[in-house]
Amino acid sequence: MRALQIIDLSGPDSALREVEVPEPEASHMLTPGSGVLVDVEAAGVSFPDVLQTRGEYQLKPPLPFVPGSEVAGTVRSAPEGSNLSAGDRVAAFPMLGGFAEVAVAPEFLTFPLADSLDARQGAALILNYHTAWFSLMIRGRLRAGETVLIHGAAGGVGTASIQVAKGFGARTIAVVSTPEKESVARDAGADEVVRSDGAWKDEAKELSGGGVDVVLDPVGGDRFTDSLRSLAEGGRLVVVGFTGGSIPEVKVNRLLLNNVEVIGAGWGAYVMGKPEVNREIGAEIAELIDSGDVRPIVGAGFPLSDAAAALKLIDERGATGKVVLDV
Ligand SMILES: NC(=O)c1ccc[n+]([C@@H]2O[C@H](COP(=O)([O-])OP(=O)(O)OC[C@H]3O[C@@H](n4cnc5c(N)ncnc54)[C@H](OP(=O)(O)O)[C@@H]3O)[C@@H](O)[C@H]2O)c1
Repeated sequence: MRALQIIDLSGPDSALREVEVPEPEASHMLTPGSGVLVDVEAAGVSFPDVLQTRGEYQLKPPLPFVPGSEVAGTVRSAPEGSNLSAGDRVAAFPMLGGFAEVAVAPEFLTFPLADSLDARQGAALILNYHTAWFSLMIRGRLRAGETVLIHGAAGGVGTASIQVAKGFGARTIAVVSTPEKESVARDAGADEVVRSDGAWKDEAKELSGGGVDVVLDPVGGDRFTDSLRSLAEGGRLVVVGFTGGSIPEVKVNRLLLNNVEVIGAGWGAYVMGKPEVNREIGAEIAELIDSGDVRPIVGAGFPLSDAAAALKLIDERGATGKVVLDV
């Protein structure tokens, strides 16, 4: 089959090669001896793929390897006893090996794909929407009627978080860096949009009547302290990522003085050994798809052979919504 491999750690420009490799067996590393084989139609591209071309992601497989954590396509074969069968349209999370014509995923990370979503949207579903649900609901303990401030709101995790929070009945304030990203956040359904180069902290406090209940932060860096200052009493700042480049430090007296919390959200580390949690999150997202609240926003599509351009778009802060590869 045709696939892309990372052959060295020289970065998105030069680390990828198109190769012919054998198709995977129906066995996934998380479920040895069992796995769902998927004929891939579209593969999702995300920040960890960029980091993997530099060896900077926590998952560091030996070289060469086929990257690509999530796909959409058609089931070729599924383990006996699963509720999937050959021919089903699915979104799946193989974790690695998605930039290929055939991928293998654990059964508990393979979900039927609603007819209302196309393959590109299916490839945009699991990483971002499951992370959004996990971060907002399980870690952030979001309640209907609360206000959420979302950084990086025009990005993959950001647009997903806007839709999940809104679908759940929360109010959303999006933080973005450009006018183009402002319209992406509005299209995703944000109630309010503020600019990261403006007085976003004061605007957020004013828009929320004194402070937001939850901050969802995939960006980190030097805006972190202002994120803490934008919280209402009892507020929760959920740490999701560090696209801004630096890992912030917290002066814990701020937590005490204002009765606020900082909470880490690592979706992969939490859910990989918990099949039931994945199924529960999948069911919640399916409901939000049925209600029309979740509609993955696909920003740019590239052919498989042009994956380097897809990775560079993310690396250079140019991506909006989800970036996908047509396989
Ligand atoms: N914790 C978890 O379980 C989990 C799961 C999935 C992803 N993540 C992490 O979440 C982060 C966001 O992923 P994503 O897929 O949403 O990425 P994305 O689509 O590229 O969006 C990231 C956003 O970060 C903002 N940003 C600020 N400074 C940036 C910089 N120097 N370079 C690039 N972007 C910058 C950009 O928004 P503005 O330009 O508007 O500021 C951009 O839209 C990544 O770090 C990823 O690894 C974590």
